Amino acid sequence: GNYAGPLRPQVHFSPPVGFMNDPNGMFVDQDGLYHLYYQYNPTDTVAGNQHWGHATSHDLYNWTNQPIAIFPGGPGEGIFSGSAVIDVNNTSGFFPNQTNGVVAIYTLNTPERQTQEIAYSYDNGYSFIKYSGNPVIGSNSTQFRDPKVIWHEATERWVMVVAYPVDFEVGIFSSPNLIEWTAESNFSHYGITGLQYECPNMVELPVVGGGEAEDSPSTLWVMLISINPGAPLGGSITQYFLGTFNGTHFEALDSQTRLTDFAKDNYAGQFFYNIPSGQDQVSINWASNWQYTNVVPTGEEGFRSSMSVPRGHYIADLERFGLSMISYPYNISSVVDTELASNSSLGNGTVAVDYSAVESGALYFEANVTGLPDDSPLTGTLNFTFMSSASGESVSGGTFISSGDVWFNRGNTEGLASNPYFNNKFSQTGLYDGSGSWNISGIVDRSIIEVFLNGGQLSASSVFFPSQPFDLMILRVAGLNENASVSVGVWSLRATWL
Ligand code: FRU
Repeated sequence: GNYAGPLRPQVHFSPPVGFMNDPNGMFVDQDGLYHLYYQYNPTDTVAGNQHWGHATSHDLYNWTNQPIAIFPGGPGEGIFSGSAVIDVNNTSGFFPNQTNGVVAIYTLNTPERQTQEIAYSYDNGYSFIKYSGNPVIGSNSTQFRDPKVIWHEATERWVMVVAYPVDFEVGIFSSPNLIEWTAESNFSHYGITGLQYECPNMVELPVVGGGEAEDSPSTLWVMLISINPGAPLGGSITQYFLGTFNGTHFEALDSQTRLTDFAKDNYAGQFFYNIPSGQDQVSINWASNWQYTNVVPTGEEGFRSSMSVPRGHYIADLERFGLSMISYPYNISSVVDTELASNSSLGNGTVAVDYSAVESGALYFEANVTGLPDDSPLTGTLNFTFMSSASGESVSGGTFISSGDVWFNRGNTEGLASNPYFNNKFSQTGLYDGSGSWNISGIVDRSIIEVFLNGGQLSASSVFFPSQPFDLMILRVAGLNENASVSVGVWSLRATWL
């Protein structure tokens, strides 16, 4: 693959050539190496002919492309989304001589039906052998897919969540051995149904600050369900529910629909299996939208789609939003390079950074607002722009200091400008919690930006396609309260693909 094209992200994963969608099979092996598989069409830059592509990384930013891991068996077959686990105790019987056997659980798609199949790997997930007794869960439906399997410690069994997309149901199955599966319950018709439920995930996360009062849990389970089409902003997005899980049933705390993102390019996210204890759980999502993914201008560079940066997660009880899943850029320091600008006491003023000499074309920035008075109305705005000094194209965003309301605009770019689904503007209200301070940070990487409020209390992922590379960043604070201040830092990011 040629990773030098002007739209090619440099700290995000994108496939060498061809088309990529959902992340699949993500696990951490026993040497600490991260494995990412993905829905992959190696022969065209549009969806179809689904394989499992594969890449590995030590830090989740520097990726090494590996040979395709799972191939369809013949014409008309697709290896659809799924997950992978390490069968340390050889519950499956596939691994009499090793404790690092990997089992992939995926959907075999044919014109007649979708069934759940497994394949096993003796070599740490580089090559797989399809199980001769497949399918492990049969069906006569064309709408039954995306198995995500975890090990449930308390019941000492494997647990699968899998979508019945057009019934708006997530099936919960259990198994002692990854081969025989028992249907335990269905989680159905929660939140935004859209047209389909896809790519469910279930993960247990710590509640930071929880566990102290008698009625506050120290962990909660999260049920994530991707919906497409039918997202509030159109096309695809991911929603989640918080609740408890006893090994057979997920019970939601409330019927509140929470979204993982307030822009349009965050779909089908998956959590890594086997994240070491003591580390935050980590997910990666597909940074695109089915409404326009097959026509984005990166096709001219021979590839389509990139993943999000890795996201670390925990649950916090937020003043304004209640219990929420936090989603922050995980381990970003491993690719942070040179400080390009810093100002620890910017009042009303401007920071401008010419980054034309940054090889990656990728930046990380942070702005911390502090000293907000609690006895007078808050005033002012903090806005940022990334632009091409050659063409004048830009993306911009900002916040109202009074509320922490945030907006983002990708409309001043040429690529997809006439596509009716390529909404230009996104916003989210009301983050400020009265604490006197808040923070915004972001990663901009050639054709994708991810913005985070207060370390991931809110996040937005947005692709954009300028005709000329961006090379100028401007951050401007205006109308700020007298004693408040803003500290700003801007860093270049390493070109991990060059
Ligand atoms: C979600 C999805 C999955 C399916 C896969 C096929 O984006 O539609 O439901 O398994 O993509 O590539």
